[in-house]
Amino acid sequence: MSRLLFLSLLIFSGFAAWQAFFFRRKLREVSGYAEEVSLRLQEKVRLAEEEKNRILAILESMAEGVAVIAPDQRLTLANPALARALSFPKNQIEGRYFWEVFRDSSVNEMIVKTLEEHVSMHREHSILLSDSIFQIHVSPVFRGKNFLGAVAIFYDVTQLKKLERLRSEFVANVSHELKTPLTSILGFVETLKEGAMDDQENRSRFLAIIEDHSKKLYQLIEDLLSLSKLDTEKQELKKEEFDLAEVLDRALASFERPIRVKKLKVLTEFSSRPFLLSADSASFEEVLNNLLDNAIKYNVEGGEIRVRASRGGGSVSVEIQDTGIGISKPELPKIFDRFYRADKSRSRQTGGTGLGLAIVKRIVERHAGRIEAQSVPNQGSTFTLTLPQN
Ligand SMILES: Nc1ncnc2c1ncn2[C@@H]1O[C@H](COP(=O)(O)OP(=O)(O)O)[C@@H](O)[C@H]1O
Ligand SMILES: [Mg+2]
Repeated sequence: MSRLLFLSLLIFSGFAAWQAFFFRRKLREVSGYAEEVSLRLQEKVRLAEEEKNRILAILESMAEGVAVIAPDQRLTLANPALARALSFPKNQIEGRYFWEVFRDSSVNEMIVKTLEEHVSMHREHSILLSDSIFQIHVSPVFRGKNFLGAVAIFYDVTQLKKLERLRSEFVANVSHELKTPLTSILGFVETLKEGAMDDQENRSRFLAIIEDHSKKLYQLIEDLLSLSKLDTEKQELKKEEFDLAEVLDRALASFERPIRVKKLKVLTEFSSRPFLLSADSASFEEVLNNLLDNAIKYNVEGGEIRVRASRGGGSVSVEIQDTGIGISKPELPKIFDRFYRADKSRSRQTGGTGLGLAIVKRIVERHAGRIEAQSVPNQGSTFTLTLPQN
């Protein structure tokens, strides 16, 4: 009996030992597997994190505002451009209801429609409390058949709109400026046809007026062509060395008559003669012609025009000073604008197109230079242009 007990004990303990060994081996196998799973998971999380950071970096650097709105109407993502566009603190956007952030009925309406009907919306709109105009796209986001929410993109088109407005204003201005002399020409032609032809005195007077207006039209078209060429930058500027004193003499000779009629005194002060300058000489002559034309036109009888040229600090500066009617302080910043005339009736009377200074400014800018005006009403004006020279 005790032998049997001993034998069965021996068998049992042997079995237990074998089982313990087997179990330990299994445990080792399982823990090895768990470790592998954990490593694989860690790698997946790292990749997902990397992918998320990559997408966030792209969103952060975008100029367009981007917002993601979940079906529960909460914002789950907003990039810095959106926060800037809405003037809303960036760290306070995510997690809020979209209508707390946008506070604009038109935008909210688009988002609601996309969330409810899963349709894309597009609108051009100026957001409430903001000066900017945006093109707004709201589109539904799906993964497979699951609706994840809406993504709204805000594209700032303020600058484009401004250019569009400037262009149509320009076209309106051009049309007006062309129409004024043309109306006058047609009127006088009509009068001549209706009998004034036979009246010797009136005939000469009317023809002179027609000639005058035709010249104005011609000048206007010339100025427009000049500006258009300068704008498209197609016209290559030729850098060449020339003598400014010589170009000035030529320009003054062309104004000999109006200078004499107005009894103006012209003084030139050049730091050297010849005064060599490196620029596009034809364009520079146009600059001088326009500035001299103004200095004569807006001067008083018996007045003075002073032209100074000097160099220093890697640039040359040319100053044209007159003793004319001057320009008031509020008007001074506008005189370089296209078609701007401080004194409309006087400028029209004197045949101005209002484009001269705009042309001057474009030419100087294309030479990487600057032009400034100073003026005291009823005392005179000084136009100073500075051109870099190397
Ligand atoms: N030297 C000046 N003195 C006074 N006003 C000036 C002078 N130069 C320009 N202006 C003012 O600036 C406006 C714009 O000049 P500009 O572009 O040359 O056009 P405009 O064809 O009228 O001469 C003029 O209408 C005039 O009112
Ligand atoms: Mg002018």
